[in-house]
Parts: sequence; C-alpha cells; structure tokens
Amino acid sequence: MFLEGGSMRRLNFDKMPKGAILGVIGTRPEAIKMSPLFVKMRKANLPLFICSTGQHRDMLEDAFSPFGIFPDLSLDIMKENQSLSYITSKILTDLSELIDNISPVALLVHGDTSTAFSAALAAFFKGVKVFHIEAGLRTGDLTNPLPEEFNRRAIALMAKHHFAPTVRARDSLLAEGVKECDVTVVGNTAIDALAYTVREDYSSELYDLAGGKRLIIVTAHRREVSEEELYSMLLGIRSAVERYEDVITIFPVHRSPRVRKSAENALCGCKKIILTEPLSPFDFHNLLSKAYLAVTDSGGIQEEAAYLGVPTLVIREKTERREAVEAGTVKVCGTHGAEIYMEIKRLLDSPLIRNEMAKPSDAYGGGDACEKILEKLHDLLKIY
Ligand code: UD1
Ligand code: UDP
Repeated sequence: MFLEGGSMRRLNFDKMPKGAILGVIGTRPEAIKMSPLFVKMRKANLPLFICSTGQHRDMLEDAFSPFGIFPDLSLDIMKENQSLSYITSKILTDLSELIDNISPVALLVHGDTSTAFSAALAAFFKGVKVFHIEAGLRTGDLTNPLPEEFNRRAIALMAKHHFAPTVRARDSLLAEGVKECDVTVVGNTAIDALAYTVREDYSSELYDLAGGKRLIIVTAHRREVSEEELYSMLLGIRSAVERYEDVITIFPVHRSPRVRKSAENALCGCKKIILTEPLSPFDFHNLLSKAYLAVTDSGGIQEEAAYLGVPTLVIREKTERREAVEAGTVKVCGTHGAEIYMEIKRLLDSPLIRNEMAKPSDAYGGGDACEKILEKLHDLLKIY
C-alpha cells in the first residue's frame, strides 16, 4: 500500500496491522541504510510497518530500487524550500496520529534527520520504545552540522536502545550517561547496502563518459552552508579540475533549490564537470567505487568511501566520522574555495599521496550490521 502523492487522512487505519515494529524513514540516506535491515526483518518474519514521511520525494523512490523494499505508507509531506519548523511539526503531528492508530510495539529510526528526530519525539510522547540506528555520532558542535547534531543528541535522550556503528560512537553515548547495556556496537548498515549495489563488471553510459580519465565524484547539500559559500566551494573545485586534461568530474546535484542554483551559477559552461540529476544508489555506489577521488559534504559517502578505499576530501569544517579520517581515507578540508582547490590539486599532482589514502578500511564494519541489529531486536522485544 504505497500511497504516492496520497495523504494520510484518506487512509483506512482499520486495514493496517496493529502491534508491529514501526520503521520510519524520510530521506535518501535513511532509505539506503535502512532498507537492508528491512529486508532482513521481513525475511525473519518480524512484524514490520514501514512509513515514509516523504521528507524527500523524487530522491527517495530511486533510493529503494536496489533493495526491492517499498514503504507501506507515505505521509508525503515534502514541499519546496521546506523549513525545519515545517518538517518537524508536520511529521510530529502526522506520526502521532499514525501511532495512535497502529499501536506499534517499537519505533525504529536512523541517524539524525528531521524525520528521525520528529518520529522519535512522537513515539516518546506516546510511550512507544525508540530504537536508534546509527546512534552516537558527534561533532561536539551543536550547530555543525545543523540541525543534525542537535537531532542525534535529542534522539539519544529518548532512545531505549542505541545501535552504535563504532566503538567511538558507543563511547560518546556512554560519556553522555547512556548505560552500557543500552548500547550495541554493530557497524554501519551503509556497508551492508553496498553488497546490493557494487558490481565488479559495472558499466553505464555515464561511466563511459569518463573514458578512462581520472574520475572525481562531487556531492554537496549541507544546510549550514550558505548559497554564497557553496558557490565559492564549487568554484574552487572547478578551478582545480579545469587544470587537468586527464580528469573528469561527475556531480549528481541534490534536488535542493539552493544547491541547484549555486551549482548552475558556479559551474555553468564548465566542460570538466558533468552535472546530473541525483543518481540511483546502484549507479552512485558503482561510480564511487571506481572513482580516483571523491569531494563531498555527505555523511554516508564518507563511510562508503572508507570501505571502498576511495580517497575523499570532506568539504566541511567538521566531521562526526573521525574513524574514516583515522583510517586515512578521508581528509576534512574545510569550506573555503581556495583550500578546496589546493587539496584537490595536491592529490591530482601526487599519485603517491593519493594512493596512500586509497586503502579500504573496515572502520564501519564488514557488512553484517543488519544481522547484528536483527539478533538484538529479537532480544529487545522479549525483554521490554
Ligand atoms: C536532509 C537531512 C540531512 C540529510 C539529507 C540527505 C534534515 C534536516 N536534513 O537534508 O540530514 O543529510 O537530507 O540528502 O533532515 N527536495 C526535492 N526533492 C527531493 C528531496 C529534496 O525537491 O527528493 C528539495 C525540497 O524542496 C527541500 C530541499 O530539497 O526543500 C531540501 O530538502 P530537506 O529534506 O529539507 O533537506 P536536505 O538538505 O535534503
Ligand atoms: N547517493 C546516491 N545518489 C546520489 C548521491 C548520493 O544514491 O546521487 C547515496 C550515497 O551513496 C549515500 C547516500 O546517498 O548512500 C548519502 O546521501 P546524502 O549525501 O544525501 O546524505 P547524508 O549521508 O549526508 O545524510
């Protein structure tokens, strides 16, 4: 029952299963990182009701494609230039109504989006147990990234059990007063997702366009970066890649109108950077796995790049994924165009330095996070 463009108010709640685990997702990364778990839960016959808030719309449909999973319900809340207050209040209200009607035994949320925070709050208010996947990531700065650092800390206050991807994430939770017995270190489900997508023999028209050149993948979308800042960051990337005949860049542009405007302004007429619509995870993961370098402000891509051994420059001031930095695959290079330019140039000029970074790491696990979560879920549902 996937209600494309539907409204929850038209739903017949009598037809919905009562007492299931409610899995809530709303954005592209949540869909990619939760789908492998949903697949496992369905195979294990755990009663599961998947609700998409529809915080993302078009980017979400593609995200499910490799997994064969579809939400049972979409709240379809997205609107252009949506504010944080709008997303938060709308989801809180709609999710509360859904919870009243289906009485879930528990809520599963992922990460730090407004969907995850608002769904957790709705469940918390109703006394429904919250289980938090990808718990414990911290930059230590409440406003960077905004609102994600706040969301993840707030979810930790409400969660009954925390599935931490790494020991560092667990330790951050313990330092905040979470009890050891309420945290399980499982790895990151992002790595599980790669098993559904990455193929040695991948080919596509887009990949053919690279024509054997050194491929750079670029993505950007962070809310805390202004349009002007993003414009200057993209100019830095443009100035660097335009210096090299043997380099080609693919930049799948996020649907955010702010990002699209900056990308069009900064990169118009640049022959070295191919702008595309957001790619399916199948294409994106495969292109990433073949990339010479990634330049991104994404969280999930840092984890994927570490596992795949793709050298990555993080165009942010701070990262909550220090493991990838310590593994040597990821370098945080800030948000100034001039610095980004220098860092890209350094890696393109020196294959030695670039190759040093190109070492696959299991800092985020080996692809068995979902199995570990499933095992613990069985226990938790017996205990509580
Ligand atoms: C959201 C998450 C962020 C996550 C990112 C993944 C919040 C506050 N932020 O940020 O943590 O890293 O998703 O991509 O939850 N849009 C479309 N079509 C789509 C998706 C988005 O048009 O399919 C537009 C919407 O008009 C929206 C804008 O993009 O106004 C931004 O989307 P939004 O969900 O508000 O924030 P993101 O920057 O995507
Ligand atoms: N991704 C994708 N298509 C794209 C760009 C990214 O499938 O065009 C995937 C990427 O591999 C990762 C996830 O989307 O799994 C990351 O999403 P995003 O960067 O939007 O969010 P974040 O991880 O920063 O929250």
